[in-house]
Amino acid sequence: MTGKPARESVVEMAEVVLPQDANTHGTAFGGKIVQWIDLCAGMAAARHCRLPVVTASMDDLHFHAPLKIGHNALLTAKITAVFRSSMEISVRVMAENPLTGERSLCTSAYLTFVGLDAGGKPAEVPPLIAETPEELDAVARAKERRAARLSRAEQRRG
Ligand SMILES: CC(C)(COP(=O)(O)OP(=O)(O)OC[C@H]1O[C@@H](n2cnc3c(N)ncnc32)[C@H](O)[C@@H]1OP(=O)(O)O)[C@@H](O)C(=O)NCCC(=O)NCCS
Repeated sequence: MTGKPARESVVEMAEVVLPQDANTHGTAFGGKIVQWIDLCAGMAAARHCRLPVVTASMDDLHFHAPLKIGHNALLTAKITAVFRSSMEISVRVMAENPLTGERSLCTSAYLTFVGLDAGGKPAEVPPLIAETPEELDAVARAKERRAARLSRAEQRRG
């Protein structure tokens, strides 16, 4: 199967934080940010494999700073590693003040998506072509996270 570079599936997505997206503190509700993260990562995964995809896991989710109503959420999803049917995607959410243009990291997470065949079973997906030293390093770190993640999932299943 022909490999694909990560740059071909990068997704950038922008949302304005509206009052209906907010919690009682006037900042974006965490669940809404997670929804945007899931959508953004899912688009990147589907772009990579051109198959239906499902979320298998989301971890290392950190809310670094609140996102105010009226500010912009700028999401970037990038594939960090591909295994057989699964892909790890890094999503970073920047908060942007629309009046000053100031940006800061608001949320980050890693998600694993699985490509499915016509029968809904995990299907092999194209390998990832790492093009830079940073991308090669990201693959190595993703392998370590995957080992820890699958071990945790196994423990949870008992
Ligand atoms: C994710 C899912 C497809 C895995 O199916 P499965 O029958 O367990 O299949 P497998 O054990 O062969 O695993 C398939 C891949 O998923 C990976 N995987 C399974 N559980 C995982 C987890 N908790 N975290 C990360 N990866 C996981 C496996 O490592 C494997 O990856 P690989 O093919 O690259 O080696 C299945 O558990 C599922 O459908 N879950 C529900 C998905 C869902 O409803 N998501 C929310 C809505 S989109």
